[in-house]
Amino acid sequence: MTEVRIRPRQVLILIIVFIVLLLMVHRNGKRTCDGPDYLQAMYTQQQSDTLPKIYAITPTYARPAQKAELTRLSHIFMLVPNLHWIIVEDSNSTTPLVRNLLLRAGLENRFTQLNIKTPQEFKLQGKDPNWIKPRGVEQRNLALTWLRANVNVDRHAIVFFMDDDNSYAVELFAEMSKIKPGRVGVWPVGLVGGLMVERPLLDQENRVVGFNAAWRPERPFPIDMAAFAISMDLFIKYPQAVFSYEVQRGYQESEILRYLTTRDQLQPLANNCRDVLVWHTRTEKTKLTAEEELIRKRKRSDEGIEV
Ligand code: UGA
Ligand code: MN
Repeated sequence: MTEVRIRPRQVLILIIVFIVLLLMVHRNGKRTCDGPDYLQAMYTQQQSDTLPKIYAITPTYARPAQKAELTRLSHIFMLVPNLHWIIVEDSNSTTPLVRNLLLRAGLENRFTQLNIKTPQEFKLQGKDPNWIKPRGVEQRNLALTWLRANVNVDRHAIVFFMDDDNSYAVELFAEMSKIKPGRVGVWPVGLVGGLMVERPLLDQENRVVGFNAAWRPERPFPIDMAAFAISMDLFIKYPQAVFSYEVQRGYQESEILRYLTTRDQLQPLANNCRDVLVWHTRTEKTKLTAEEELIRKRKRSDEGIEV
């Protein structure tokens, strides 16, 4: 029988390899912005009910990809229990498509379904950008009226304008929950304004001192709608704060924020504005040439099927 002898050097190498592997596993498990901790916080919250309620206001309109977009968003609501969805349809009445989607997502007592149609003369214009006026104005204003009339202002709450086509990380809502009463929270937005990321610039003391925007940087607040959320008490304190059609495209964010805050009062979030937790994605217009062909023959692929 041959004797297997392990030399001290081999043992040392084995230990080093083991430690390196352990470090690698640990690093991979580590996420930015309180990932797993935050999810834990959310689930504990289901019992403790300590996080402020976040009212997410979403204007939405009928088009082929509407159900797909809203389904994507509804999954965030399933994961974030302190979110309440104010969904405002750009239509003459609320639709069963949206209502069924909300109910199927299990959001029973956590949504408000409203509707108001944008005047047709503001849409038209055929080409892209096929709008002469900013989008979502009527819808967001209706939601603000609803909030001012229905929300108990004694409890701290947050308001977020959530477009139906952007991509949102669940962690963003944990960040938003940190917004203090009387403040507006800000963070970076990916894929917007012709840049990979548009973001607030901070000084040594982590105060917002500027923005890196390339598109119309002269705007009072050169940030996207997805870049901020607002403490609800500000909407009560400043009842005149509403969206307006009388501004150029790209000025809606500045229009609402100018009533509510100043640059130096902004509360930076998302790892001092270094983490991207929302992206201004835009869905390609659905091509339906074969469907149009069918419709000419009085047929359709979705006969009796909601897509
Ligand atoms: C950018 C901003 O991200 C929007 O928040 C802002 O409203 C818009 O510019 C603007 O200032 O006009 P963008 O991707 O260009 O967004 O706009 P959309 O995503 O097409 O529309 C914004 C929201 O309005 C969406 O939730 C969309 O569903 C809704 N919308 C759009 C309507 O309710 N009706 C419409 O006819 C079109
Ligand atoms: Mn969009």
